[in-house]
Amino acid sequence: MGRRHKRPLPLLERVEITGVAAEGKALARVNDKVLFVPFAAPGDVLDVQVRRSRKQYMEGEVVRVHSLSPMRVEPFCEHFGTCGGCKWQHLPYEKQLEFKQQQVTDNLERIGKLDPGLVKVYPIAGSDKTTFYRNKMEYTFSNRRWLSRDEIDSERAIDEVEGLGLHVPGMFDKVLDIKKCWLQEDPSNSIRLAIKEIALEKGFSFFDLRANEGLMRNLVIRNTPDGQVMVLMIFGQDDPEAIAGTMQAIHQRFPGLHSLAYMVNTKRNPSMADLEPVIFKGSPFLEEHMEELVFHVGPKSFFQTNSLQARVLYGVIRNFAGLQGHEVLFDLYTGTGSIACFLAPKAGKVVGIEYVDEAVTHARSNARLNSLGNTVFVAGDMADVFDESLMDKEGYPHVIVTDPPRAGMHPKVVKQILQSGAERIVYVSCNPATQARDAELLSSRYKVVKSQAVDMFPQTQHVENVLLLKRV
Ligand SMILES: C[S@@+](CC[C@H](N)C(=O)[O-])C[C@H]1O[C@@H](n2cnc3c(N)ncnc32)[C@H](O)[C@@H]1O
Repeated sequence: MGRRHKRPLPLLERVEITGVAAEGKALARVNDKVLFVPFAAPGDVLDVQVRRSRKQYMEGEVVRVHSLSPMRVEPFCEHFGTCGGCKWQHLPYEKQLEFKQQQVTDNLERIGKLDPGLVKVYPIAGSDKTTFYRNKMEYTFSNRRWLSRDEIDSERAIDEVEGLGLHVPGMFDKVLDIKKCWLQEDPSNSIRLAIKEIALEKGFSFFDLRANEGLMRNLVIRNTPDGQVMVLMIFGQDDPEAIAGTMQAIHQRFPGLHSLAYMVNTKRNPSMADLEPVIFKGSPFLEEHMEELVFHVGPKSFFQTNSLQARVLYGVIRNFAGLQGHEVLFDLYTGTGSIACFLAPKAGKVVGIEYVDEAVTHARSNARLNSLGNTVFVAGDMADVFDESLMDKEGYPHVIVTDPPRAGMHPKVVKQILQSGAERIVYVSCNPATQARDAELLSSRYKVVKSQAVDMFPQTQHVENVLLLKRV
């Protein structure tokens, strides 16, 4: 058999960008195919080099700009165009909200087969803070940082190859050295820059992501709206002297940290789930407040990453749940139980289900901390544990709140909801497509009556949506 020669991928000229698509990309239609282009905006006219071509779609890279969309605004971050963090900062915030709202209604119509005219769709709740809104950032050390085209093209020698920052999208071994990140309030940037300086001064090795070796591996910075800060260092080698030296130097530069901790990860995979944190100085947790509740957030705890918008989101959930005080409420995919705890004062009983054991332990301690005696947390896979015997034991739900991961609910879970007899379902989702799919699957017994999107992640394409479904 002769070898098949690959045809060169085309350069498409004067392509007009017409919309936005998943993963923060923009799109155009060229010869009956969809073309996805990163960092473009509707209204741009561009020459695009196709980098990948499939039957239904193409992906390309901008090689020449003919004209930029009048919709555009100047990106505020020097790393825009390379960093995967804030891909929509070239769009004005009102447009970002409009596109997010559109994404929700399109999915409800197309996948959920709903007539949006029959659903009360509330305007998306925008975020007051559109920068510096995250309470957690995870950075990676790299011994070979990503070099910009200018750096490569210039004849100058590169004097600093180490980097501490965020991954270039889709590249596990490429880390962009971040000078200023616009996602987390200071002292986040000063801490990251100082820790890099400490590591360089001490001559410690930055992690080699291919060979899987090096001392300085990851850095997690968490903070709260009240100004508490936690620094968690992850070391790639178990070198007590170097670890103590680094931690002491961080403590000296930032004596006011609420919590300073570290972990050692000598495994290949970067997951922290099975690592034990060591508290070097201060408290083992930060305190997040929501109305009269307090949540302890430890080095590994999950907590909604936009604290202020989490309050808005939970307010919508509580409003849609319409609790009178006597109801049995099931909180499916409860995580560390924050929705369950938030709703417990308004319900008769709350049953939270979650498959990460550690999260369930946190959920129980959050409930204890807030004296919420009417909560029960069950650990296990939703498809297995949310069944008749659980409902026989804990009571049949009047209201179900469900907040599944991006993939949506397992068909067995959908089936169980259909058989639960619940009057109302509040469906919280970070993926409007799977949410619309599940709403359709529930439509034999439940009708979508309200929809409210909440913007948890300004400057990105991500949208959180809450649906209220009522039994018909
Ligand atoms: C989107 S998060 C919800 C977090 C939580 N409701 C909150 O607001 O903090 C989804 C949760 O579902 C859990 N999860 C994912 N798949 C699961 C499954 N098959 N069974 C049980 N829990 C699951 C994840 O561990 C995660 O905590």
